[in-house]
Amino acid sequence: MLEAADGARPPSSPSTREASRAGTAGGVPDDVLTEVHGLRNEIRRHDHLYHVEASPEISDAEYDRLFRRLKELEERHPEVVTPDSPTQRVGADPREELPTVTHVVPMLSLDSTQEPDEVRRFHDRMVQAAGGTVEYVLEPKLDGVSLELVYVDGLLDRAVTRGNGRQGEGVTENVRTIPSVPLRLREEERRAPSLLSIRGEALIYLSAFEALNQRLVEAGEEPFANPRNAAAGAVRQLDSRVTARRPLDFLAFDVLEAEGMSFRTDMEGVEALRAWGFRLPDGIELASAAEGILEYHGRFQERRDGLDYEIDGVVVKVNDLELRRDLGSTSHHPRWALAYKFEQRKEVTRVERIAVQVGRTGVLTPVALLRPVDVGGVTVSRASLHNREELARKDVREGDRVRVQRAGDVIPQVVERIEDDGERGPPFRMPEHCPNCGEAVEHQGPYTRCPNRFGCTAQLKGRLVHFASRHALDIDGLGEETASLLVDRGLVTQPADLFDLKADDLRDLPGFADKSAENLRSAIQRKKGVDLERFLYGLGIPEVGVAVSRDLARHFRELEAIRKADGEELESVPGIGPKVAGQIVSFFQDERVSAAVDSLLERDVRPTPPSGGSEGPLEGKKVVFTGSLNRLTRARAKAIVERAGGTVTSSVSGVTDLVVAGAGAGSKLDRAQELGVEVLDEEAFLMFLAEHGLEP
Ligand code: IVH
Repeated sequence: MLEAADGARPPSSPSTREASRAGTAGGVPDDVLTEVHGLRNEIRRHDHLYHVEASPEISDAEYDRLFRRLKELEERHPEVVTPDSPTQRVGADPREELPTVTHVVPMLSLDSTQEPDEVRRFHDRMVQAAGGTVEYVLEPKLDGVSLELVYVDGLLDRAVTRGNGRQGEGVTENVRTIPSVPLRLREEERRAPSLLSIRGEALIYLSAFEALNQRLVEAGEEPFANPRNAAAGAVRQLDSRVTARRPLDFLAFDVLEAEGMSFRTDMEGVEALRAWGFRLPDGIELASAAEGILEYHGRFQERRDGLDYEIDGVVVKVNDLELRRDLGSTSHHPRWALAYKFEQRKEVTRVERIAVQVGRTGVLTPVALLRPVDVGGVTVSRASLHNREELARKDVREGDRVRVQRAGDVIPQVVERIEDDGERGPPFRMPEHCPNCGEAVEHQGPYTRCPNRFGCTAQLKGRLVHFASRHALDIDGLGEETASLLVDRGLVTQPADLFDLKADDLRDLPGFADKSAENLRSAIQRKKGVDLERFLYGLGIPEVGVAVSRDLARHFRELEAIRKADGEELESVPGIGPKVAGQIVSFFQDERVSAAVDSLLERDVRPTPPSGGSEGPLEGKKVVFTGSLNRLTRARAKAIVERAGGTVTSSVSGVTDLVVAGAGAGSKLDRAQELGVEVLDEEAFLMFLAEHGLEP
């Protein structure tokens, strides 16, 4: 009877398991169970028709009737409630903070361009790698919030933001409230794998966004600047009941991992996503020539304003997954994909004044203070004029009318001056003295620099903000405003002083109270054991960004080793050339830098070396997990293997070094034994890790 209600399913499909679980849950009559199942399937089908296919079959009133009946039965028999019931999308109790979750597969970002010639060069590279024709999947590039969704045995297990690509924030409760996210994968056409990791974009449709803003304005609340901000805020809410009230949608575009299934092409993955019940972006197409890509881009650029969601370009991906594997990835992005972006949206406004900002490296940047203008949904009131040469080339003066754009979505830029008949002000001149400390500036090519590195408080403020920033020490509550206050009050004259701050010092600062003062103090203290790579990045060594910091930390493992390294040793790190090596050497040779670093160490700041890495106990080893694990999730198991220097693969073969077999392991375990591959059970594996000082 139950089978019939669920439709034809192979034995042991998730719903059969669910049914038997519910059936043993405590004497719920069979007819109630049958009705509950029938209602759930019916509601899921209508959810899918409405939210994914956009072709509802029943009226809202009819739907509400089904939903109310299910709720009523679940309220009367709480033991039948399962997490994938359609009633469970309403949100859960608020959280204190979002947990950090490791991705099943790292979420890389995309290399991007706006130049047709770069697209042609990309195509040439692909053809060369393939040794023949290449097929591409073309998709619109959605401008939303990137998410990984993980399904275990067909049920939504977790949802994670991109974060730094390796780890993100767990936003499962929030994502459960999104109606177009299946809580359970559909299995009518295709079975769900035991573990599925997919990627897609959460977004708010423009029509829904307008309605949302209208509601907010009517309620006397602040409207959102654009759909992406609204979506990002909703996805990262601590209270999922708030998320449930935001009209979020989710479009899927990539299968990251489907255990036990191997797709030959991306399109097969796309079809599988569709079969499992996901909504996909409109207009996915195939092409096999550069001109086809350019034509698709042109077509979407024209369609852009007519779509109900924001896109900022198109994505070009190699369809053949084997070719993808051959091409591989850089540390940031896959070599087999390219985002071909649209031209930025531009608007015209007036320059009210030109100010000069001094950054952490002492560079003086001219900034146009603008009459506020809306550019693609964001209010822009200042824009960089870059440097003396750029400023002279554009000849922007106070009072001029200019065209501004948002580049890469963050820093607005002045594109050009608009010719005007009216009288113009005098040309703008960069100052000869630092507007902050009065030191005579130096001119270096197009740049103007304040040389007073350790005396100029503007530079100190910039360095503090950088030191505390997200990829560095990531100190909550230490932004521009606070850094500025700390410096102006004389509380901080170098980064090490942060660690001497008492709650009493902070309490009286504007905007602070007892609690926030203590919060900031403890946020700073907590960072004494910062990762070495973050510490290095936070020092702000010229030319040393996040990736080089990570490479340095992994290679040298100790701060002292890096401080002492000469150019040759530094250049032995892959990716570090003579220029960067030279910058690092002269940075640490500077006595004042050295003293500032020593002061940090004297405050007990202990940069910690990366775990695993070159000395990992699984260095270079290929590990396969099979069966169900009790104490580890698959994602954690994978993360810890990687920390130990190994990689996780899905099938057992002659190159496999270790198989970790959980309960109910089957054919993979047999195969391992056949091949004589070492096998550990979960407990033994955890012991092995513990012996090497690794905690899952
Ligand atoms: S494919 C390895 N396809 O764009 C990356 N990404 O910088 C594979 N994005 O945040 C991603 N629409 O989430 C892909 N149709 C699409 C996309 C898309 C938007 C996002 C992606 C990431 C950013 C890449």
